[in-house]
Amino acid sequence: MSDSQYFGESPEVASSPLDIDVALHDLRFVLRTDRGVFARGGLDTGTRFLLDQAPSLPATGNFLDLGCGSGPIALTMALRRPAARVWAVDVNSRARDLARFNADRAGSTNVEVCSPEAVPDTVAFDVIWSNPPIRIGKPALHELLLRWLPRLHPHGIAVLVVSKHLGSDSLARWLTEQGWPTDRLGSRAGYRLLRVAQP
Ligand SMILES: C[S@@+](CC[C@H](N)C(=O)[O-])C[C@H]1O[C@@H](n2cnc3c(N)ncnc32)[C@H](O)[C@@H]1O
Repeated sequence: MSDSQYFGESPEVASSPLDIDVALHDLRFVLRTDRGVFARGGLDTGTRFLLDQAPSLPATGNFLDLGCGSGPIALTMALRRPAARVWAVDVNSRARDLARFNADRAGSTNVEVCSPEAVPDTVAFDVIWSNPPIRIGKPALHELLLRWLPRLHPHGIAVLVVSKHLGSDSLARWLTEQGWPTDRLGSRAGYRLLRVAQP
């Protein structure tokens, strides 16, 4: 379902936008997707699992969608919690443009789409939800998680969806060894939903 180079800064593949309907148990929206961005043409199975099963969000606060792609996770958080501020972060500029467009079209004014460097250092997160970029490789993924997890509030939690085939169980063990206690919230269609708590 994903284009091979979806995590570059500026995709080389020609743009070819495609709108999809996303229907969840509690809401529905249209999402513009594109080539060169993860999951063109359909909501990723792992992302749907996270959106179906992640624990209920606090009423307000700062939420992070780490690696937002076209923005299905950020937009769901924003629509479910209009009083919260949702940070949608991605290295891929085409993904950021799509996430911005999708939030605007849905009428969400509480989504801040930005590159990782543009998130102010002063912001701490109550919740992180992510379908993380496993394909960037283990060292880069570990570095990414150790960069963002410390930005959780003391009471905050992160929820990650990771394919079992792509190493969810070893990632959970590694996070726990690093001092981030990680347990499994659920398992569906080859994906694990992981909850990462504060040390
Ligand atoms: C598996 S995709 C998930 C996309 C979207 N959240 C979804 O569920 O459809 C992971 C995303 O992480 C982004 N990414 C890769 N490296 C990143 C980094 N260092 N910081 C932030 N995002 C990154 C990729 O560009 C990609 O859009």
